[in-house]
Amino acid sequence: MKNKNILDLSKQYNNYIYPKPTENLHEEWIKKNRFQICDPNYCWHRLWPEKPYNTRRLDVLIAGCGSDQAAILAKCNPNHNFVGIDLSENSLKHEKKLIEENKIENLKLHHNDFRAVKFKKKFDYIISSGVIHHLDDPGTGLKYFNQNLKDEGIIYIMVYGDKKSYATNQVKQLFKKLNLKQNQESIDFVMNTINKLNNLHPAKIFANTEIKQDLTHSSGVVDFFLHKKENFFSIKDFIKLLDKNKLIIKNFANGRVKPLTKFFTDAPLHIKEKINSLPIEDKLEISQILNWNDRKIDLICCKSENKKNSVVYNKINFEKIYTYQYHGVEYKIDGSNIKINDKINNGFFNLDFANNKFKFSDILNGKKTLLEVTKDFDKTEGKNFINKIIFMIENSILDFSYHPIADYKKYYSIKTN
Ligand SMILES: C[S@@+](CC[C@H](N)C(=O)[O-])C[C@H]1O[C@@H](n2cnc3c(N)ncnc32)[C@H](O)[C@@H]1O
Repeated sequence: MKNKNILDLSKQYNNYIYPKPTENLHEEWIKKNRFQICDPNYCWHRLWPEKPYNTRRLDVLIAGCGSDQAAILAKCNPNHNFVGIDLSENSLKHEKKLIEENKIENLKLHHNDFRAVKFKKKFDYIISSGVIHHLDDPGTGLKYFNQNLKDEGIIYIMVYGDKKSYATNQVKQLFKKLNLKQNQESIDFVMNTINKLNNLHPAKIFANTEIKQDLTHSSGVVDFFLHKKENFFSIKDFIKLLDKNKLIIKNFANGRVKPLTKFFTDAPLHIKEKINSLPIEDKLEISQILNWNDRKIDLICCKSENKKNSVVYNKINFEKIYTYQYHGVEYKIDGSNIKINDKINNGFFNLDFANNKFKFSDILNGKKTLLEVTKDFDKTEGKNFINKIIFMIENSILDFSYHPIADYKKYYSIKTN
């Protein structure tokens, strides 16, 4: 017997399938470059910085795959096996349509509460974005992921943060008090109310920026404003919940929540020292508050026993890493100076390396270790250089891996032709 939470979710996502389904995978993917940040190829270096890139067949589970996520990932990663599970029959119907139209052979679908589906084999990789925060007890989702994950496996999880959504959530509470239903009348009422808000009301700003696209269709309005069950997390509380389920953050999938030192470049030494001395969870709590870009918290997690592979909990060995351009970040090079525009986090950096003994392409194309890049540097040059690299990595404007980083864009165009 399904509980109310699951019945509500099934009904909502059947009547209002979300996201608005992609109609043409090839066009969407190639022309609009609508890739998923959890993609096992494109983001290999971020998912597995400790492992060399390879195309070994992975078993991937997508828990709560929605209307197109599983088909997109399967189409773009023909070398891996995918299983998608969703409560919404209508969302799965659309996934099936994409499977047929695009002759996808590496995706199996299940219609169920993912927690009720039993598998004989465990997975290398579990993806679940925008799903467990809708459960009465999100911990039950994490427990299931751990039980169905191979020892060395990883999980991509996206959950809502509780900072940026705060003001919008108050408006949502009001809609709840008014007992709005998931129907056209309520959708119209919500949209009219949002339109009438003062332009500087945080919920209006949120609506005009973060969820602008979603508000162009009914399912988006229902998913955002009329959801029956949502949990919003502080990163510190989510880490506790992961810990209860023997999971740990391995890496951040983007730089929305993690960057910290960029806020303290001009701070007095005692403040820098104070922040440096804090436990990682407290640092992340400060980053979440200051970045405030936490509508979505995108995490890559693994079993707690694999803490050694976490780049969040371990010191990075800077000499051994290969560094790479960060997705969504633009770089303009002028001599020894680099201007960096982080479009996702609205950040602009102007860094002068004061050193012409290296080419910026060497730190942006993932082909050389930093030890190789700095081989002709004297001690001071080496120290200055590494400090800049540390700053870039800490603030998610430079990516890295312990292995050479492949040119993934090329990979896509080859596989999807
Ligand atoms: C916000 S949508 C996200 C869809 C997809 N993950 C994506 O990122 O495009 C949430 C989806 O999770 C599904 N879902 C929620 N709880 C679920 C559960 N316990 N088992 C299976 N699917 C679930 C819903 O039906 C819905 O399709």
